[in-house]
Amino acid sequence: MTSTLATEPVLTLAGLTVGYGGVPAVRDLDLSVRPGEIMALLGPNGAGKTTTLLAAVGALPAIAGTVQALGAPLDKRVERNARRGVTLVPDNRGVFHKLTVADNLRIARRKGGTDLADVFEYFPKLKGMQGQRCGNLSGGEQQMLALAKALLPSPKVLLIDELSMGLSPIAVKDLLPRLRLIADEQRMAVVLVEQHIDLALAIADSAMVLHHGRVALSGSAELLRSQRANVEAAYFGRVADV
Ligand SMILES: Nc1ncnc2c1ncn2[C@@H]1O[C@H](COP(=O)(O)OP(=O)(O)OP(=O)(O)O)[C@@H](O)[C@H]1O
Ligand SMILES: [Mg+2]
Repeated sequence: MTSTLATEPVLTLAGLTVGYGGVPAVRDLDLSVRPGEIMALLGPNGAGKTTTLLAAVGALPAIAGTVQALGAPLDKRVERNARRGVTLVPDNRGVFHKLTVADNLRIARRKGGTDLADVFEYFPKLKGMQGQRCGNLSGGEQQMLALAKALLPSPKVLLIDELSMGLSPIAVKDLLPRLRLIADEQRMAVVLVEQHIDLALAIADSAMVLHHGRVALSGSAELLRSQRANVEAAYFGRVADV
């Protein structure tokens, strides 16, 4: 795993309270990630994981607290934050089912971004599938395409919601080490929402467990791996002691 201690965070949420229609869904959250760091964001359904990611890309305004990305406050417009390098891969993956793989990739390309050839190094299977309609791809292949699209503009911070949604454990086991490699090689910070706790902790540097919109547990992935019972307790809202 990459040493991330020497660098400044590229994303910092501080005292963040955010929600819907003025009603908080996430309260007083502190979170930061550095270049090359993967943070696993864990928690049961309704814990506030998606809400946190939406706030981190500027899609939901803070009720209280701040979001700083790449040394400056977040813009109110999601597209501007994306252009600055803060990108969300949503849980519906954001791929266009009626378009081919090639067209999906073409849309995502940006001047000065990552070369398509480099993206194919991470996902070689996609190279041979360029003529296929995205809707005909398997779930795992669609997730590869979603990640490939997200990588093309060279993001500095990648927020991934439910990477493994609808995927077999084998497909998840195949994808997560690639994500580790990408984060290391591209020095990209990743916040990864993932239901497979152990698979996520195995490749992450740090982790946070949310419960009912509050941080129930956080620390290095190594620490949380060694205190697996506490992760379980935090996940289900029992008091954790780390
Ligand atoms: N559009 C919305 N309007 C009102 N409340 C919402 C909305 N979206 C989410 N919520 C509420 O905010 C809380 C946090 O939801 P969120 O989607 O962030 O959870 P999550 O951790 O991503 O859950 P899941 O694992 O099911 O995706 C929940 O109580 C949910 O009902
Ligand atoms: Mg969610």
